[in-house]
Amino acid sequence: MSIDVAVVGSCNLDFVVNVDAIPLVGQTILGGDLAQIPGGKGANQAVATSRLGYSSALIGRIGDDDNGKFLKQCLEDDGVDTSFLFETEDVPSGIAMIAVQADGDNSIVVSPGANARLTPDDVENIPFLETATVVLTQSEIPIETVIATGRNTSGIFVWNPAPAPEEIVPLELLDVVDVLVPNQTELSLLAATGPINSVEKAISAAQTLPCASVVVTLGADGAVVVANNDVMHIPAPFVRPVDTTGAGDAFCAALAGGISQGNDLIVSVEQAVRVGAATTLFAGAQSSLPTLEQVTERLEGG
Ligand code: RIB
Repeated sequence: MSIDVAVVGSCNLDFVVNVDAIPLVGQTILGGDLAQIPGGKGANQAVATSRLGYSSALIGRIGDDDNGKFLKQCLEDDGVDTSFLFETEDVPSGIAMIAVQADGDNSIVVSPGANARLTPDDVENIPFLETATVVLTQSEIPIETVIATGRNTSGIFVWNPAPAPEEIVPLELLDVVDVLVPNQTELSLLAATGPINSVEKAISAAQTLPCASVVVTLGADGAVVVANNDVMHIPAPFVRPVDTTGAGDAFCAALAGGISQGNDLIVSVEQAVRVGAATTLFAGAQSSLPTLEQVTERLEGG
């Protein structure tokens, strides 16, 4: 079973409400109509990979409920292999409650449900982990399962530590990561630095980590690549975001897909920055993920 990118990660049903501004603690506000959109960082990355033209699979867990059936069907409709998307008895599927404010920024609360039940045993004897060119994972599943995935990966292991891990990340995980893809917040936690608010700070923090390559996503400022002795800042095209949900997932998918074709890391990041920017121009997680042709159309259309 050979595949370009095997994703090990989460599936959520996103409950999305548009608001003028994300509420403060203790504040109640009125928003727009509720939209229910397939999401979850793992599923988004698998779908994004497939839409960009690479073969992909999702290894994960859904609950034995209607949400789980819907999420699985959406993955299959997008050509993602779900042979190892396990159903979990008596546990709800993951959901996310998302508020999107007028400038496209969001605030997300995830109830992991079945995603939290993906164990290290689940990622033993998965043929895709041995045959995929790239294995991509995130942090919406237990950290011990991420570590087991890394150990069982024969190809290139990419870890996107999103959402930012709350516990200290074991060094044994960073040791098996080939390409680490944090945002500024995740990088500051992993490198134990203060806030990272400049390209220079991102570079020096990334240089302290033991991973072979670190790609730091910087939102509107693009990305920074720190690999061996090479350091490069790749700016992003200017866009007026509608909704940033899923943009980081689209970036990771494009990066993993590019690497899976043997493309140079910098070339893959240049493509990933464009894909991430194009994703912010449409609403929702999986609903906003573009094909390669749509990336060009969206960016040329402004
Ligand atoms: O990265 C966006 C995703 O984060 C959403 O789809 C939501 O489900 C949360 O996992």
